Amino acid sequence: MTESTAPIDALSESTRHLAATGYRVVLDGDRVEVHDADGGTTSYGIGTPEAFRVISDYWLRSGWDTKYVYSFSYMGRPIIQLPEDMIRLQEIIYQIKPDVIFETGVAHGGSMVFYAGLCRAMNHGRVIGVDIEIRPHNRSAIESHELYDLITLIEGSSIDDDIVAKVRSEISSDETAIVLLDSNHTRDHVRAELEAYADLVPIGSYIVACDGIMEGLEGAPRTREDWYWNNPSTAAKEFVAADDRFELVEPEFEFNEGTITDRVTYWPNAYLKRVR
Ligand SMILES: C[S@@+](CC[C@H](N)C(=O)[O-])C[C@H]1O[C@@H](n2cnc3c(N)ncnc32)[C@H](O)[C@@H]1O
Repeated sequence: MTESTAPIDALSESTRHLAATGYRVVLDGDRVEVHDADGGTTSYGIGTPEAFRVISDYWLRSGWDTKYVYSFSYMGRPIIQLPEDMIRLQEIIYQIKPDVIFETGVAHGGSMVFYAGLCRAMNHGRVIGVDIEIRPHNRSAIESHELYDLITLIEGSSIDDDIVAKVRSEISSDETAIVLLDSNHTRDHVRAELEAYADLVPIGSYIVACDGIMEGLEGAPRTREDWYWNNPSTAAKEFVAADDRFELVEPEFEFNEGTITDRVTYWPNAYLKRVR
């Protein structure tokens, strides 16, 4: 067995398809052992960022299988997000203080309510959401919510020309936006959303392409075989390769007195920052 000196990026790459590729992880007292498919074993101390990464990757996969993210609500509305992703995102929202937070994919409205709550607390900004289907019970719950005065709902496909025009008509040319893409997560759909909405984002602001975790879920329940490429992360990488106004970045933690510098996230390769 070897003690690891592997850089965390390499580790993360190698453990991404843990369940599918025959990696085995053994938790042994205060050590974490990774047994690879070729018979090699690497051992990490529990207090290392590498051990945290391995355990986090397993935790994420277990959370996917158990539908952990389907267990939260925010101010009364179900929110289908990993709480850490929301906390990391509010760091960015508070930094940017956009005039508009625009989200594709409303579902029960929990994430819109979360963003509207931030707007109320900042005394700045409002939220626009698009969903292909806003079910009557969700619509009425959102419309009767305490924060509804900060929310605009639009029903239709986020890449439909009429809907894109409607969204644009809600945002004036001098307003700044953050754009969150959380609707249909196929590569082509996210790519089309990126094309449609990128110019709402001013220099310094972000588009967030949610749920790139799909890439690493090979063999998990409720997945498809093509997810390893057909996902928002691929769309984001392709988009930044074609549009030099944007770069894929990892926003630095606002505060960090610990040793962990990677997000534990459903949203790898998600933050597209407009740089020019
Ligand atoms: C993952 S859920 C959104 C979760 C929500 N943002 C939250 O945090 O609670 C995805 C939503 O995208 C919607 N959707 C699917 N295809 C869409 C499309 N073409 N345009 C807009 N919304 C779409 C679905 O109806 C579903 O409500």
